Amino acid sequence: MMILIRAAVITLSDKGFTGEREDQSGKMVIEMLQQIDAVVEYYKILPDEFDLIKKELLNLCQKNFDLIVTTGGTGVSPRDVTPEATLSVIEKRLYGMEIAMMIESLKQTPFGMLSRAVAGVKGQTLIVNLPGSPKAVQENLKPILAAIPHAVEKIKGSTTDCAIQKTGKDHED
Ligand code: MTE
Repeated sequence: MMILIRAAVITLSDKGFTGEREDQSGKMVIEMLQQIDAVVEYYKILPDEFDLIKKELLNLCQKNFDLIVTTGGTGVSPRDVTPEATLSVIEKRLYGMEIAMMIESLKQTPFGMLSRAVAGVKGQTLIVNLPGSPKAVQENLKPILAAIPHAVEKIKGSTTDCAIQKTGKDHED
């Protein structure tokens, strides 16, 4: 079954918010989500503010977005709070997605270990954090992309037998 995914993309960046830096990372997420036919209906740049991020995530979950992908604010700089805001919202944590991103990232750069990106579920919405650079977006989203449609199906309560599902390997090189 092909599933239509309604997605929102949020870039967390103080510099992006003030216009000091062009947001290439959000655009990269939007482009990559086309590979799984996700329709990005909402895109916003926010500053690294816990309360704003939490409010935005809750608002989008309430609007029943299937998927929220954030980029930025996952590191250890004083202003990085995306994982904290995400953890304050999600009900089920998806460690597997976090681990998949970390494994791939560590193959690419030791700096991969500086991302604290979280993935999890709130109600009917899957939330995934990605680090902030376009390169990091590409390297972190790639290993989890193929599992997102099946995750969304399951979150929405699909009772299809996982044993007869596609392997999820169709997005691999
Ligand atoms: N992961 C991958 N795959 N590739 C990268 O280039 N950059 C790292 C890391 N994760 C990177 C990566 C760096 S340099 C930082 S500081 C952290 O993500 C956190 O980034 P953020 O604070 O912009 O989210």
